[in-house]
Amino acid sequence: MNSFIYDVGTKIYFGKNATDNISTELKKYGKKVLLCYGGGSIKKMGLYDKVISEIKKAGCEVFELSGIEPNPRVDSVREGAKICKEQNIDVLLAVGGGSTLDCTKWIAAAAKVDHDAWDFFSDWADVNEALPVLTVLTLSATGSEMNCGGVISNPETKDKIGRLAKPLLPKASFLDPTLTYSVSAYQTACGCADIISHILEVYFAPNKDMYMLDRFMEGLLKTVIKFAPIAIEKPDDYEARANLMWASSWAINTFVTGGKTHEWSCHPLEHELSAIYDITHGLGLAILTPRFLEYCLSENNVDKYVDFGVNVFDIDKNLPKMEIAKLSIEKLSDFLFNTLGLDDTLTKIGIDETNFEIMAQKACEYDCINGFVKLSPKDVEKIFEMCLE
Ligand code: NZQ
Ligand code: ZN
Repeated sequence: MNSFIYDVGTKIYFGKNATDNISTELKKYGKKVLLCYGGGSIKKMGLYDKVISEIKKAGCEVFELSGIEPNPRVDSVREGAKICKEQNIDVLLAVGGGSTLDCTKWIAAAAKVDHDAWDFFSDWADVNEALPVLTVLTLSATGSEMNCGGVISNPETKDKIGRLAKPLLPKASFLDPTLTYSVSAYQTACGCADIISHILEVYFAPNKDMYMLDRFMEGLLKTVIKFAPIAIEKPDDYEARANLMWASSWAINTFVTGGKTHEWSCHPLEHELSAIYDITHGLGLAILTPRFLEYCLSENNVDKYVDFGVNVFDIDKNLPKMEIAKLSIEKLSDFLFNTLGLDDTLTKIGIDETNFEIMAQKACEYDCINGFVKLSPKDVEKIFEMCLE
């Protein structure tokens, strides 16, 4: 394995009433706050009032950007950056799911530059600084609360692009599992599929693994598999919501990637789906992941599937390796489509092969994905086709 630096500088307040600490953190970063949120779920939950009272307690002036969309658009980033510049905003407070958090992070960066926000994605413009960002998470899925990534869509160019940049890392995140009680069964399922995918993108990587991190990832996977159905059945089960919330953060806060150089495979494919069809990220991943695993399986990499099947799904280790590998994919599909109840084909969600060729080329950036198995655009097209039935 490679050497690495592990340095996640996000302070986490975890547990019931974690939001009581917002004012303490806000005070550190200035007087003018831009509160960013989505389509209104935070008002229905009563969280908006709580956040406003914390902002007042901190003695701060509040400005607002509401209506941030799922699969957040670059227009929202532009709008937020304009407010920051006009009002001399000191600090941003994102309240919501991954879309709100991602959008807020890129507003924080766009507020510091003169060029258009989309240049960060089309031209890979430098991200040298950003306004400080604090987050209140209301949906366990993306891990955006504890990482420096953010994914932004541009409906004009039909692009959805994710990028990491150290200055975007939240300074503090408030993680109260009770704030996820109101998440629908569908969004809970999609969030869990996303967490699982984040882990599998790293677990199934081409280079040599660190034993400890592989066992850690298996533990995270077992956690999601155990608690997702409980949260769906009983949305206010604190233990289930708490386990899912903390698992979502640790699946993608760079801890599990320690020592690995690798490229993700299913995420670039999914980003093409949601760029064109505006589907929920986790749903796209749920449909893609079992097909990706099936497509990549070979005698050369079967041992990894055996670990997955035996350690995560308790499949009998004495069975032939190929049988264990295939069973592990079946078990994963059963969990995603029967236990979580997600649609199992692209056809069912109204997507056909019309755009597969261009989507495959864009997912590969016109060359190939150097992930678990090297995938050319033709390979990616085949994986998309497997998702039709
Ligand atoms: O807009 P509101 O009204 O808040 O409603 C949202 C939205 O409709 C709702 N919701 C959120 N919390 C709720 C709630 N409804 C009831 N009660 C609550 N407590 O859920 C819907 C979906 O929200 P969204 O933020 O879009 O979901 P998610 O957290 O899954 O975020 C998805 C976005 O994150 C990106 C995805 O590509 C997608 O754009 N990702 C970000 C990553 C990162 N920053 O590291 C990595 C991921 O792989 C992912 O790509
Ligand atoms: Zn994801």
